[in-house]
Amino acid sequence: MSWKVLITARGAKAAGEQAQEVLRNAGCEVIFPSKFGPLKGDDLRTALTDMEAVLASLDGYSADVLSSAAVSQLKIIARWGVGYDSVDLAAATQNGIVVTYTPGLLDDAVADYTFALLLSLARRVHEVHVAMQRGEWKNHWGADVGGKTLGIVGLGRIGKAVTRRAAGFNMRMLAHTPHPSPESRDVEFVSLEKLLAESDFVSLHAALTPATRGMIGEAQLRQMKHTAYLINTARGALVDEAALVRALHENWIAGAALDVFTMEPLPADSVLRSAPNLLLSPHQSSFARGSGERVSLAAAQGIVDLMSGKKPRDVLNPDVFASPVFRARLPSTT
Ligand code: DGY
Repeated sequence: MSWKVLITARGAKAAGEQAQEVLRNAGCEVIFPSKFGPLKGDDLRTALTDMEAVLASLDGYSADVLSSAAVSQLKIIARWGVGYDSVDLAAATQNGIVVTYTPGLLDDAVADYTFALLLSLARRVHEVHVAMQRGEWKNHWGADVGGKTLGIVGLGRIGKAVTRRAAGFNMRMLAHTPHPSPESRDVEFVSLEKLLAESDFVSLHAALTPATRGMIGEAQLRQMKHTAYLINTARGALVDEAALVRALHENWIAGAALDVFTMEPLPADSVLRSAPNLLLSPHQSSFARGSGERVSLAAAQGIVDLMSGKKPRDVLNPDVFASPVFRARLPSTT
């Protein structure tokens, strides 16, 4: 059997040589789209035409896309990463398409990057670098980090990896999360209101769900200290971006760092690009070479497993295996 595998995840190109080899050795044809994503709508439908598998970026796998004739051959969406808010899981199951992800493999990469942003924001590393390039030699006062209070919104695997770094900085840690875990002994579990009111740094690590969409809006930004910083490496839509722009222009908070946006790539004319005290980066937190290679390999392995009749690890919609539509798409899988 030979499958056509589309790779829309940019990371699986640059850090995916071994993964591509695994796919080719298994007999797959590896195909890259004419432009990298995230792809949506007609662009995605066109790229998926005749594909049996996709090693997927944050493309918009909506019900519309998944039920279209163009994707009638598709058997698996293997997400390169841990977030799956861009995949309509119910529609995937209904259409007999398996969805996998790669939990646990990006925790350190994202936590490291969160700290890189936090430290840059506090100590203004990015600002002095640009000033030096302009020919200046001037010190910029920043904020202390050691011993300060870090508020973590969403204490899953990545949030916990952030606490391990914060412990080294002797930070007081507050967390607001749906399922507080007793083993996180250094962390005080609090309401979102208390976390926002007391933290010097607020870092978002929640999944994007209907309940968390827009959870940091005007009211929440106004609850933060004027001296506090917001860091978002999770999903752009957790934050009301228009309210954040106002917060920065009117100094409700000291600054923010965003690695994720409601619209990615961030449009060239976005008002975020010129907001004061805002450190921007292009959904970069997972782009650490070793982690990227492991994620690419795990996603590719899921595709090869399904192709050879095995159930892949880390399936998000296991109900799919019982569905007659899935059996019609892939009769040989147990
Ligand atoms: C994730 O793991 O979901 C990251 O955002 C990269 O896609």
